[in-house]
Amino acid sequence: MRRQVLLFILIVYLNSVSYSIPEEMAKGSLIGNIAQDLGLDIKRLTSGKARIFTNDNAEYVELNRDRGVLLVKEKIDREALCAQTTPCALHFQIILENPMELYTVVVEITDINDNTPIFEKPEMAFKISESAVLGAKFLLERAIDPDVGKNSLQSYFLTKTENFVLKLKDQPDGEKIVEMIIQKPLDREKEEEISLVLTAVDGGEPNLSGTAQIHVTVLDANDNAPVFTKTIYKATITENAPKGTVITRVTASDADKGSNSKVTYSISNTAADVRHMFGINEINGDLMLKSNVDYEKARHYQIHVQASDEGGLTDSCKITLEVIDVNDNKPVINIMSQTNVIPEDSKPATVVTMVNVQDVDSGDNGKVHCTINEHIPFTLKSTSNNFFNLVTDSELDRERASEYNITVTCSDEGVPSLSSSVTLTLQISDVNDNPPVFERSSYEAYIVENNTPGLSIFTVRARDADWNQNARVSYILEDSSVNGVPVSSYVSVSADSGVIHAVRSFDYEQIKDFQFHVKAQDGGSPPLSSNVTVKILIQDQNDNPPQVLYPVQSGGSVVAEMVPRSADVGYLVTKVVAVDVDSGQNAWLSYKLQKATDRALFEVGLQNGEIRTIRQVTDKDAVKQRLTVIVEDNGQPSRSATVIVNVAVADSFPEVLSEFTDFPHDKEYNDNLTFYLVLALAVVSFLFITCLVVIVSVKIYRWRQSRILYQSNLPVIPYYPPRYSDTLGTGTLQHVYNYEVCRTTDSRKSDCKFGRAGSENVLIMDPSSTGTMQRIQNEKSILDEPESPLEVIFGLFNKSRANSLHHTQILFISK
Ligand SMILES: *[C@@H]1O[C@H](CO)[C@@H](O)[C@H](O)[C@H]1NC(C)=O
Ligand SMILES: *[C@@H]1O[C@H](CO)[C@@H](O)[C@H](O)[C@H]1NC(C)=O
Ligand SMILES: *[C@@H]1O[C@H](CO)[C@@H](O)[C@H](O)[C@H]1NC(C)=O
Repeated sequence: MRRQVLLFILIVYLNSVSYSIPEEMAKGSLIGNIAQDLGLDIKRLTSGKARIFTNDNAEYVELNRDRGVLLVKEKIDREALCAQTTPCALHFQIILENPMELYTVVVEITDINDNTPIFEKPEMAFKISESAVLGAKFLLERAIDPDVGKNSLQSYFLTKTENFVLKLKDQPDGEKIVEMIIQKPLDREKEEEISLVLTAVDGGEPNLSGTAQIHVTVLDANDNAPVFTKTIYKATITENAPKGTVITRVTASDADKGSNSKVTYSISNTAADVRHMFGINEINGDLMLKSNVDYEKARHYQIHVQASDEGGLTDSCKITLEVIDVNDNKPVINIMSQTNVIPEDSKPATVVTMVNVQDVDSGDNGKVHCTINEHIPFTLKSTSNNFFNLVTDSELDRERASEYNITVTCSDEGVPSLSSSVTLTLQISDVNDNPPVFERSSYEAYIVENNTPGLSIFTVRARDADWNQNARVSYILEDSSVNGVPVSSYVSVSADSGVIHAVRSFDYEQIKDFQFHVKAQDGGSPPLSSNVTVKILIQDQNDNPPQVLYPVQSGGSVVAEMVPRSADVGYLVTKVVAVDVDSGQNAWLSYKLQKATDRALFEVGLQNGEIRTIRQVTDKDAVKQRLTVIVEDNGQPSRSATVIVNVAVADSFPEVLSEFTDFPHDKEYNDNLTFYLVLALAVVSFLFITCLVVIVSVKIYRWRQSRILYQSNLPVIPYYPPRYSDTLGTGTLQHVYNYEVCRTTDSRKSDCKFGRAGSENVLIMDPSSTGTMQRIQNEKSILDEPESPLEVIFGLFNKSRANSLHHTQILFISK
């Protein structure tokens, strides 16, 4: 500073002095030693009352009189004082009094670099389209530096950038125009915002700089086409996917911005039919199904999609769509040929129906297998791919099943599996393979004797399992004979109904049963038949009255039983013997006393017909007693017979004779005759009976022996040996008794016919059964010649009591 001051002191003019000081000196800084430079004494300054005179009011400089120096009174800013004017100086006068003196002082103010360049707007913004051409210019703000000269603004710099370059243009007035020029095209897609700093530098020492921000916004231009993320998209769709299903999404991107980047999608270059099946969402690129896809119609689709931005730039891609099969088709069963009816005798493996099965699905979804319902005599045989034969696999029987519903079910192997079925109705036609079968293996029928001819007895019935004509049964009476007579004269069979009619009236006493065969024959060709045995049992009717065998009732003769007067109570007088040719109840006889001379003297055994005394015979009793016994069978209605029994109560024959032989004619003559006759007869009778007893005893003995031997061979007929002992000891005759009848056709001849062997004439009362009389032998012989005159009868009663007696009947013959 001091050197500077010294430098400027050299410029001293008369009455004037100049100084040069830099601006911005501190207050009180020395400007110059004015006293010395003007050559004045400091005292003169004081005495002269030296002072500064200036035109303007600004008081930058102060005069120190005591030291004789000029000082900076106030900080001087050159830019404020002179702006851009150079040189810049303060002009003032120093005035002295006593004497008046005037000195001119000039203080030049030099510039220092105290101002930095300043941009008025520290930020600049530009919006430049990326499509701006190279060399396009953009004017920038200038900076201001109030300093002058070298300290003023010298240059501009721009931060390093590829796109822009700074160009300064000098103006004639020395100002500079600052321009920014595009030297490389902008790309919004690369750099959308560019920030630059513009620096203005002055030439001070040291130099100062100011900066301004430049914001460049690169505006978009539609310089980019949309681009698909892939050129080929692959997608799959299952068939039968519902309409509206989103299949896939294609995406195209556009590097541009805003509307330039707005992409719309559309289907292009695609066959019309495919185009109708698919739709694309033009905003988001979703490919959607518009109708149904069917794997069986098309398995692939190619769809071209175009993406366009609003500027009309496009890209395209291809969607390869594969359809996935779904098991959506049932197998279809076609009946190729069908039989509706087959005969039941068809051989196994007869083809009934041919079936073809189709499934349009592919893979497992189209593989088909078929089955039929179980438990039927048919199988399904695969002949070739998808062809099946339905064949019989065992014997058929219309009688078991006349109709089959055969359900053929075919399923594919998809998951889940689909199936379809068809039902065939197969009729089995009849073959005459069943003979008629009677309901029973044999028949027994009953008919009551004395029937009216033509009466239907009963019905045989045979069934035939076949059908219609093959099951139409007719009944035929098989030829045979009964007792040498053709059976057709006994019965007839109605061919249609199987009703058996009696042809004649039957008599139980003649024929008790017979049997024959009835054949049932069906209407098949050839006919089948079977036969059955029919046994007809004729039932008894009470059509025969009892017949009294003893005592014999003959026209003129009188038989009398003798009862001694000494007879005790219970004396067996005689026994009424009767038979009934009917059987069972109808032949069960009972005996009752109907009339008697003296009812108090006799009784008749209800079942055995024995006549006994019931009180002591007295002398007063009449010799001639007459009893009427009625014999009744047990039939409904019952039939009866009566017999008159004469009893002589006497001890001797004469007594009897006197009572019984009071014949009306010639009593004198008759007396003698009768007496001799009776006498002779008694003798003969006695001899005969003795002889007879011996013979009968021998016969019975032999018969018993032979029965014992026979017995083992005849197990069926219950055998009751005749009992001759009264085991009960009641004095009554036992229920088993034996009688024989010997007849002669002529009493004067002494030969005697025995009807049969003794065993054939046994009547057995079975005490165990409830009074039924069991006939075990046929008594037909007794009635062989019922009309022949019975003249002499000998009745023999075996009685095995200790006091057995063979009493004699007296026969009176009145011929
Ligand atoms: C500013 O000064 C520095 C050193 O102080 C120098 O390196 C630089 O070049 C100068 N700038 C200009 C524009 O003169
Ligand atoms: C077969 O089907 C028909 C009709 O559905 C039916 O009337 C008939 O009874 C069936 N037959 C058999 C044997 O099931
Ligand atoms: C009756 O049928 C049997 C078989 O059941 C047969 O042996 C017999 O000969 C047949 N008789 C007649 C008379 O047809």
